[in-house]
Amino acid sequence: MIKMSQWIKACKVDQVPEGKLIGFHSDDKKILLANQKGKIFATDLICTHAEADLSSGFLSEEGVRCPLHLSVFNLQDGNPQNLPAEIPLKTYNVKIQQNEVYVEV
Ligand code: FES
Repeated sequence: MIKMSQWIKACKVDQVPEGKLIGFHSDDKKILLANQKGKIFATDLICTHAEADLSSGFLSEEGVRCPLHLSVFNLQDGNPQNLPAEIPLKTYNVKIQQNEVYVEV
């Protein structure tokens, strides 16, 4: 069966200010929101290498850095920029409506 995507409400825009990482759960999904230079991105919350929670990582111009072994993932395409992670993070579309952040899952 093909599962249709849907937009889920994640949080208020002001809960993800510039430079901030937050994680949230929706059903079986664990999603990271990252505000990089005023733009909000959504990716999987859990690192593809050894399951660290990326919301306790670090945000930089290059992307989100895993707190455990320090791989950096690009926020646009989820690609790891350095070892040890080799598998990209899944990324999700984001939209802002009436001051709420929505993620397409
Ligand atoms: S758990 Fe993220 S790089 Fe190892």
